[in-house]
Amino acid sequence: MQRLLTGLQSSGALHIGNYFGVLKPFSEMYDRYESYLMVADYHAVTSLRDPEALRQNILNVVKDYVAVGVDSSKCVIFQQSQVQEHTELAWVLECLVSVPFLELSHAYKDKVAKGLEANAGLFNYPMLMASDILLYDTDVVPVGEDQRQHLEYAREAASKFNNAYGQTFKEPKELISKEIAIIPGTDGKKMSKSYGNTIPLFGTKDEIAKAVMSVVTNSSDGKPEILHAIHGNFRPIAELEAPYTKGNNFKELKEMLVEDVEALVAPMREKRNAITDEDVKAVLKTGSDTAREYASKKMADVKNKIGVSL
Ligand code: ADP
Ligand code: TRP
Repeated sequence: MQRLLTGLQSSGALHIGNYFGVLKPFSEMYDRYESYLMVADYHAVTSLRDPEALRQNILNVVKDYVAVGVDSSKCVIFQQSQVQEHTELAWVLECLVSVPFLELSHAYKDKVAKGLEANAGLFNYPMLMASDILLYDTDVVPVGEDQRQHLEYAREAASKFNNAYGQTFKEPKELISKEIAIIPGTDGKKMSKSYGNTIPLFGTKDEIAKAVMSVVTNSSDGKPEILHAIHGNFRPIAELEAPYTKGNNFKELKEMLVEDVEALVAPMREKRNAITDEDVKAVLKTGSDTAREYASKKMADVKNKIGVSL
């Protein structure tokens, strides 16, 4: 069985774009691999300085995945900070790559352009991510298109190490689904936490209804394009043809969308509400113990090869 690993930084409540873009595809594929799902809490420290919010985010990410159907007994769900080998290997990899090479990172440049502090952790972010992946001899890494370059960094770090010290790390491949469309937000731009245009995944029915009612409907050609694009994720397009060509009663179409979102979300919401913080902590403890066992063997090999084990 091939090994799969993915990581998530939690920066706030998830929306239906995240659901269709990452949670649903992951929940449909993870059990065909030996899967590792990592909460990237040390990556979050590059931008989050609120300890209480970080604690909550760590728990929430796990709840979200379990609520959409990920079975914690069929994959290793763990916390990055609880496996010290991640930061340890990151240091070794940082000593193998150059500053100009890291300066090519689009993610770093974008984040700084958006106003994030250009701290050294943010700059070295790709080497911590490379460690996350390489420590487990990972074959595939399912991510969004925005993470493609981070996988190139991971392969480059692996090859630099292998060239310097002999074959040690597997070069991982990204798994980026071409079919997954970008879901528009209520204003027609990409749905994103940072644009305030989301339909929340685990909101109450009222919150969902409020968001759906605010979808911009441009009646110039009689077809509410944004509404239709969002709705197409909840029903086969063919089923939408009749209601969307019948007329331009946008309110009725929006009410129909609210019911469709609710039909998908209600069972997941119920499941999520039944998961306690204690349940999540137990899952993370077991997962982190399993991950550490693998990672510590790999790191022992690295320490031996670079010459720090006497
Ligand atoms: P946000 O833009 O809300 O901050 P993130 O950057 O945290 O979202 O997204 C995490 C992942 O969720 C992305 O890599 C992407 O694969 C997916 N995703 C985010 N927004 C959308 C969207 N509108 N449509 C489809 N997938 C999305
Ligand atoms: N950088 C990823 C993101 O922002 C999160 C991440 C951290 C990750 N470590 C990883 C993803 C390892 C895949 C594998 O989405």
